[in-house]
Amino acid sequence: MFPRLDRQVGVVGLGAWQLGADWGTVTEDDAMAVLTAAVDAGVTFLDTADVYGDGRSEQLIGRFLAARPDAGLTVATKMGRRVTQTPEAYTLDNFRRWTDRSRKNLGVETLDLVQLHCPPTAVFGTDEVFDALDTLVTEKRIAGYGVSVETCDEALTAIARPGVASVQIILNALRHKPLERVLPAASAAGVGIIARVPLASGLLSGRYDENTTFAADDHRTYNRHGEAFDVGETFSGVDFTTGLAAVRRIVPLVGEGRTMAQFALRWVLDQPGVTVVIPGARDATQARGNAAVAAQPALSREELAEVTAVYDDLIRPQVHHRW
Ligand SMILES: NC(=O)c1ccc[n+]([C@@H]2O[C@H](COP(=O)([O-])OP(=O)(O)OC[C@H]3O[C@@H](n4cnc5c(N)ncnc54)[C@H](OP(=O)(O)O)[C@@H]3O)[C@@H](O)[C@H]2O)c1
Repeated sequence: MFPRLDRQVGVVGLGAWQLGADWGTVTEDDAMAVLTAAVDAGVTFLDTADVYGDGRSEQLIGRFLAARPDAGLTVATKMGRRVTQTPEAYTLDNFRRWTDRSRKNLGVETLDLVQLHCPPTAVFGTDEVFDALDTLVTEKRIAGYGVSVETCDEALTAIARPGVASVQIILNALRHKPLERVLPAASAAGVGIIARVPLASGLLSGRYDENTTFAADDHRTYNRHGEAFDVGETFSGVDFTTGLAAVRRIVPLVGEGRTMAQFALRWVLDQPGVTVVIPGARDATQARGNAAVAAQPALSREELAEVTAVYDDLIRPQVHHRW
């Protein structure tokens, strides 16, 4: 539930970065098959951005919305990363321009939810930015707005703003810091939490090993050390070898009836305060498997405790202080 939007969505959504670019080749047919599989399996929330494939992800979702107008979807997009990242770029004029482009790409009059796409930290403390977002709501260009953040401190600053409907943050079995303050604060304020990178870019599927390679145009090749954008977006900022060691300790916990990827997604959903988890999928099979987690039983206390132990032993020293 997004209380400030007065909207209910299914707890498993779909991340649509893969439908744009940066994950190797995903054909248009594959992209449409992902959308169809996810929605037919009960997904009602899609997360995209104006920058994913420079609009390709939004346009494919727009095509899907036109074909399935009664699917009852909530589509969240993001804006702000098609220009050089300075706080001065976050103006009402630019917001109007950027949202007009997304409205056209998605084929809608009013965008359901627009998120600032990990803007410079100073933006979260700038009243004019949030006044401008309120203006977009008044103009009915958008029904509501939220933020996507890198750090817990940014999330807490945003949650304190009365108009912010959602915070999108990295949360997964290898990223626990939002559990400390961000999730409780969001719950108390009625702000929805959109949990992104829930599979640590696929690491938590348990299918990778030391010999796994990715395409040259896949961020898991070209952003492994933060060369193109925040390193936290690639494998959650965990060094690949350390990540493999952590996953190898979690795999034996996965009982009958679910895959490692489903176990990892269930871990996210079992954290109080999560509104929706948005795994990305590169094909229809992945999309269906992820959607099925909504109906799967919660993890046991022992399973949750063991994931915490793995985090504390291997991951916490590397990432906990960073985001
Ligand atoms: N700054 C931001 O706001 C920001 C940044 C990052 C992401 N996001 C959003 O968050 C969404 C999710 O994050 P993400 O896509 O980066 O990472 P993710 O969901 O943690 O990982 C996605 C990858 O995991 C693998 N996978 C997915 N489902 C699987 C399954 N059922 N079984 C096995 N493997 C599976 C696939 O990779 P392979 O098939 O290659 O193994 C897939 O590309 C994005 O799509 C995007 O919408 C937002």
